[in-house]
Amino acid sequence: MSRAYIVAADPESLARSASEFVVSRLEAAVRSRGAARWMLAGGSTPRRLYEIVRDRSDIPWNRIALYWGDERCVPARSPDSNRRMVESTLLADGRVVPASVHPIQGDAPDPVAEAARYGTVVDDPGTSAPLSMDVVLLGVGPDGHVASLFPGTPELQIRDRSVAAVARSPVPPHVGRITVTFRLLDSARSIVVLAAGPEKRPVAEGVWYRDDGRLPAARLRPTEELRWFLDPAAAGDLDRREASAPAPDDPGRR
Ligand code: 6PG
Repeated sequence: MSRAYIVAADPESLARSASEFVVSRLEAAVRSRGAARWMLAGGSTPRRLYEIVRDRSDIPWNRIALYWGDERCVPARSPDSNRRMVESTLLADGRVVPASVHPIQGDAPDPVAEAARYGTVVDDPGTSAPLSMDVVLLGVGPDGHVASLFPGTPELQIRDRSVAAVARSPVPPHVGRITVTFRLLDSARSIVVLAAGPEKRPVAEGVWYRDDGRLPAARLRPTEELRWFLDPAAAGDLDRREASAPAPDDPGRR
C-alpha cells in the first residue's frame, strides 16, 4: 500500500487535485473492471470537489455506483444530511446520472436495522465480504474521526460487520449515526482524505508524524493507495509542496 500526502496551495487547488485523483481512479476501475464504486463523504470540505466533478463532461457515470460512508440520523431534507449534501452538489440538476446510487436512510425509524440493511448493500451477496470500493472519500474531524468512527469508541473494533449504528455522536450534530466500519475501509482500493483549515493541523501531525493509533484517521489501510490532500493551514509544517496526483506505483511520501 502506498501512502502519501499532497499539500495544495489553497482550498480550491486542494479540491482540484483531489478531484483529479478521484476521477483517475474511477476511470482506471472502469477500464480494468468495467465498473467503479465510489464511496462519498459528508462534511463541508468535499462540497467543492463534488461541484468540480459534476461539471466535467468526460466521466463514465453509467459505469459508476455511488455509496455513502456515513450518515446522520436526521430527515433526508435536513441541512445535516450527508445524502442531501451530495444531492445538492454532485447530483444537482440531474446533470450526473450514475449507474446506481445507494444512500444510507438517515431517517429510518430503526438505525440498527438500517445499518443491517446497508450492510447487505455494501457486502457481496455471494461471499459476504465487503465490496471493494475503488475510491473512498473521507473528511477528517479535528478529533481524528473518519466517517462516524470516533476515537475511543467500540465501533472502531468492529470486524464482523461492514456497517454499524452509533447511538449518539460525540461531535455536533449530537444525533445517532450510521457508519461503515474498518472491515469495509480496509478492503477499499484507494482512500482519499481531505483536510482543510487550521483545526485539522493537530490530526494531520498525529497521523503523519506520530502514526498515533488513537486517531481513527491513522488506522486507514486501504489495499492500494492512501492519499491525503491538505491545504497549507491543515498541513502546518508538513512538506509544503503542491504535487499533481502521484501515479499508482509511486512509493508515496511521508
Ligand atoms: C461529521 C462530519 C465529519 C466530517 C469532518 C470534516 O458528520 O462528523 O461531517 O464526518 O467529515 O468533521 O468536516 P469538514 O469537511 O466540514 O471539515
